[in-house]
Amino acid sequence: MSFSVPQALENELDELASHYPQKRSASLMFLHALQEHFGHLSQEAVDWTAQKLGLQPINVYELVTFYPMFRQEPLGKTQIKVCRTLSCALAGSAELRAHLIGKLGLDSHRHGPQTTVDGQFTVEFVECLASCGTAPVVMVNEDLLEKCSVADCDRVLAKGRK
Ligand code: FES
Repeated sequence: MSFSVPQALENELDELASHYPQKRSASLMFLHALQEHFGHLSQEAVDWTAQKLGLQPINVYELVTFYPMFRQEPLGKTQIKVCRTLSCALAGSAELRAHLIGKLGLDSHRHGPQTTVDGQFTVEFVECLASCGTAPVVMVNEDLLEKCSVADCDRVLAKGRK
């Protein structure tokens, strides 16, 4: 499948870039818009952004790899974010992640988000989900699971497989 940015989005981004004295200042805005549209930032999206802004692909790629909000791979249908910050760490979030990773056959040593080969689940460790008083906390798509247990995680997996 070839990479193609819809004309309306391209026009919007061209307009946006025209407001900056230096076009490269629009790089982050371009990346956010492309990620919102495509779900992730492929090499083609990086190349396209570089070409539009008169940059080398490496100038764009370094932004994609530096900022944690950018994704280089598509996410699974069920996105599971396990909080790893102090309250949740003390309440056992590492065990929850290990359980999920083990059940899904993912790599426990790998950092960053991991997606199952069938595209059903993405699991990642994230920083504080702003519900420290109910640790450990796991976010499943838009839902927050407070005082999350291994059994709760199993229910998430069972529901995601349906
Ligand atoms: S430490 Fe986990 S929600 Fe704040």
